[in-house]
Amino acid sequence: MSSVDSTPKDAPAWGENALLEIVDGIAWVTLNRPDKRNAISPGIVWEMNAIMDEVEANDAAKVMIVTGAGEAFCAGQDLKEYFRIPDTWPAIERERLYRANSQWQWRRMMYFPKPTIAMVNGWCFGGAFQFMIACDIALAADDATFGLSEINWGIIPAGIVTKSVSMVMNQRDSLYYIMTGDPFDGAKAAEMGLVNFSVPREELRERTMAIAAKLMEKNPTVLRSAKAAYHHVRSMNWDTANEYLMAKHAQTNANDPERGSQKGMSQFLDEKSYRPGLGAYRRED
Ligand code: ACO
Repeated sequence: MSSVDSTPKDAPAWGENALLEIVDGIAWVTLNRPDKRNAISPGIVWEMNAIMDEVEANDAAKVMIVTGAGEAFCAGQDLKEYFRIPDTWPAIERERLYRANSQWQWRRMMYFPKPTIAMVNGWCFGGAFQFMIACDIALAADDATFGLSEINWGIIPAGIVTKSVSMVMNQRDSLYYIMTGDPFDGAKAAEMGLVNFSVPREELRERTMAIAAKLMEKNPTVLRSAKAAYHHVRSMNWDTANEYLMAKHAQTNANDPERGSQKGMSQFLDEKSYRPGLGAYRRED
């Protein structure tokens, strides 16, 4: 066995490899291995799963923003701690690590019950694409550097990287960057649809918080259903999607504790106090 423990039982819940701070409704989640450019180690895997448990359960957290400490967003999987050392573990231990990594990076991130934003503050490589793409929205600093660098060290973009890339980038761009491993900047990432916006570094935090604030104005039950529905319908045919969406719509309204659609309709049709085309209904009523 190796020097890196394969079991989570001795790991801190979080606060060492990944940090959580909840301020004004925003759960700030920071990958915290700046010396290793926030490369994903088993420690990050266990702590991110624990953080997501907390953010999901904590009512003070309305939106989750994921970013990196120091100059990196995330330099992908840790070649030593995630690959070389676990390769010496018993297969069942290694598979547990891989499974836990899939959980936080995409299985759970994609369907996370609260809105998620990736704030790409610097280096973003390989495995980092998985959770960055699985977040609902992504912003990058103009000078952040992205890369599908797997080819440069002799592997294919595995895990779920190639699939993730193919969902947000077109075939020409996907294959070009998968096959050349060329780095590209935040502006190019935005042009290709890999992130929503690329902004000057000094504006990154403020612009990200403005989007979080906008999401916090919306009905959280409907937000939760809307993102789940988006992901589910992508693999359905039109008829099935129509049936599913109408059922999901009815389920969402039935389960909405704030009766949002009734408020929205009444504020528009009866009170004439807002226009749904231009903004959200008042939630405090
Ligand atoms: N895995 C393991 N260690 C890493 C990783 C990584 N992915 N990325 C950085 N580190 C470590 C370095 O080994 C170094 O450790 P040391 O101080 O003990 O020597 C430390 O982080 C700093 O790295 P430098 O290369 O010195 O930092 P620099 O700022 O010059 O470069 C860069 C940053 C470009 C991110 C570079 O570290 C790099 O190319 N990293 C690998 C990126 C990559 O290909 N990731 C894997 C993608 S494939 C996948 O995720 C499946």
